[in-house]
Amino acid sequence: MSDSLTIRRPDDWHLHLRDGAMMQAVLPETARHFARAIIMPNLMPPVVTGADAAVYRDRILAALPADMSFQPLMTLYLTENTDPDDLAAAHASGLITAVKLYPAGATTNSASGVANFDNVRAALERMAEIGLPLCVHGEVTAPDIDIFDREAVFIDRVLDPIRQATPGLRVVMEHITTSDAVAYAREAGDDLSATITTHHLVINRNHILVGGIRPHYYCLPVAKRESHRLALLAAATSGDPRFFLGTDSAPHPDTAKIAPCGCAGCFTAPNTMSILAEVFENADALDKLEGFTSLHGPRFYRLPVNTDTITLTKGAPANYPKTIAVNDEQITVFDPEFPLHWRVSG
Ligand code: DOR
Ligand code: ZN
Repeated sequence: MSDSLTIRRPDDWHLHLRDGAMMQAVLPETARHFARAIIMPNLMPPVVTGADAAVYRDRILAALPADMSFQPLMTLYLTENTDPDDLAAAHASGLITAVKLYPAGATTNSASGVANFDNVRAALERMAEIGLPLCVHGEVTAPDIDIFDREAVFIDRVLDPIRQATPGLRVVMEHITTSDAVAYAREAGDDLSATITTHHLVINRNHILVGGIRPHYYCLPVAKRESHRLALLAAATSGDPRFFLGTDSAPHPDTAKIAPCGCAGCFTAPNTMSILAEVFENADALDKLEGFTSLHGPRFYRLPVNTDTITLTKGAPANYPKTIAVNDEQITVFDPEFPLHWRVSG
């Protein structure tokens, strides 16, 4: 087995950059390896209009170190008040690449999300017409639905009915965590794809709960049992173009993670490529890494693949920082709890 692997430069099809000092600290961690990323709009307040997306994009570009290049692919946060004409104009001008659906209350800063899907019907129909993809946080929020069942129930009760009612709507099932989602994506046509995070390929729910609560492994959708992780791993390493990387790297200060009511999110931007190379090698699928990180995403989003490359080399375990500093706070880097022999060397 070779100890060097050159692949097209990867993209991250689901990323939280936040804003201000936090963005300044985390943006280089992504831009170092990734050419582009789909930027999540769940700021406080959220990015809901084309005008919001334009100023947020400009803040991202202003925060980018001068020696790095990176293209933020902007999204709008779908609300019950979203104006279909504003969506269409932002899409036509090339400002936005997708629209994000958060069911109200599903996760961090999702209070403005959708409660009554009838109120977003016109927006979804316009998106189907113009080919603007919908990125979906696929969890129901009904209090009577167990948190480990929320993704599977969402597929039956919300996602499938929306897709039946809106022919042609292009959908990304984001950060899938279950074999149910893998099966649904596998049966779908060309208008559906699914992203998989780095951390959901590594952890199952035992990592969060056995031997004490591990707040840094808590994210949403929450990691499920091992059989689901194995289904995600099989999908990611299968070469099926419907599955591609969206890290959902979601930084929070440690004070917000290690708290009586801790925030959801794993910060995987710095070491994602090393982790993925290790995971794919262990699955005997290093030859499928490039498809997952660099080819399948552009194919779905109808964007060109990146022309430059990165090279990963294998050697003594890499040492990533355990934390990244932001002002007087720390953000903990996701720890896969296995050595990372692969590093991006060029
Ligand atoms: O774990 C998560 N963190 N899941 C999400 O859906 C949101 C994200 C965040 O913004 O922190
Ligand atoms: Zn996210």
